[in-house]
Amino acid sequence: MKYTTLGRTGLKVSVVGLGCGGPSRIGQSQKRSEADSLRVVREALGAGINVIDSAEAYGTEAIVGKALREVRREEVIVSTKKSAWGDAALSRAAITQSLEASLKRLGTDYIDIYHVHAVLPKDYPLVRDEVVPCLLDLKREGKIRFLGITEMFHRDSGHAMLQLALEDDCWDVMMAGFNLLNQSARQRVFSRTLEKNIGTLIMFAVRRALSRKERLLETLRDLEDRGLLDRGSADLSDPLGFLVHEGGATNVTDAAYRYCRHEPGVDVVLSGTGDVVHLRENIVSLLREDLPKRDRARLNTLFSRVDDISGD
Ligand SMILES: NC(=O)c1ccc[n+]([C@@H]2O[C@H](COP(=O)([O-])OP(=O)(O)OC[C@H]3O[C@@H](n4cnc5c(N)ncnc54)[C@H](OP(=O)(O)O)[C@@H]3O)[C@@H](O)[C@H]2O)c1
Repeated sequence: MKYTTLGRTGLKVSVVGLGCGGPSRIGQSQKRSEADSLRVVREALGAGINVIDSAEAYGTEAIVGKALREVRREEVIVSTKKSAWGDAALSRAAITQSLEASLKRLGTDYIDIYHVHAVLPKDYPLVRDEVVPCLLDLKREGKIRFLGITEMFHRDSGHAMLQLALEDDCWDVMMAGFNLLNQSARQRVFSRTLEKNIGTLIMFAVRRALSRKERLLETLRDLEDRGLLDRGSADLSDPLGFLVHEGGATNVTDAAYRYCRHEPGVDVVLSGTGDVVHLRENIVSLLREDLPKRDRARLNTLFSRVDDISGD
């Protein structure tokens, strides 16, 4: 494993993080057994991954908690989240209750990074004015080490909420959507997280468009129709085939993970799966060198105008 510093937190974090949410929820969405999901978390920890990301909404905190009991608590950076969308109550009492319930499920007495989860731009003022003061109190009590915020990338693919959050100084960590199809976080998020030394966790490196060819073709046709991809610039029979060659990527998913990992401003790339084989493959990809400069430059040109898709 390789490690880096997570911005101003100073935490030494693995460059690969295990995502326990996303479409798989470490296999729980596919009705895998708890033992299977636990195996995924153990595999990650065994490979040297020390960032484990969950949320109260995922239903996977208790499984992470079981894995945590098998290691020294201080060896793992536990990242989890308070829901902030829909009818989620954001009163002081509700936040404290949520945190206590997460601590219980995780079997720990502190959270390393506690995020406000999937905040929409319209809700940001409430989060800043009502939620942050409460989180800062919980931090003073030692229950939270660092404050994080995550965006709802599939509805806010251009990072409007994070741009608001970047105006404030309370956030130690931000979780942003970024992938080779929607690179808009480079200018809108990473340029500023770097300036402010805010740690970054990356989600959506690989979703359906970068793991299933049919979905990629559908996505690219839509981009062409909307004038966001020059017609004919990508060979629609094998649009990202140019990335796969000797000295380049082994397949599109490999390319997609490596593209994110080597982006300046990206600290940890999260990868979620219910499949131990996928996890091993993804770790190999994320530890490989950057894509050849020419391939990266071509991706940057191809998708330079795209800022409104998530890549799912
Ligand atoms: N707003 C938020 O706060 C928010 C939103 C989304 C995600 N997250 C967090 O970020 C983490 C990462 O999320 P993500 O959006 O990047 O999705 P993800 O959880 O990493 O999911 C990746 C998807 O791709 C599949 N996959 C993984 N490796 C593969 C491979 N080698 N080949 C083929 N398919 C593969 C997985 O299915 P298999 O199970 O079949 O491998 C899964 O469906 C989440 O787990 C969650 O912790 C946060």
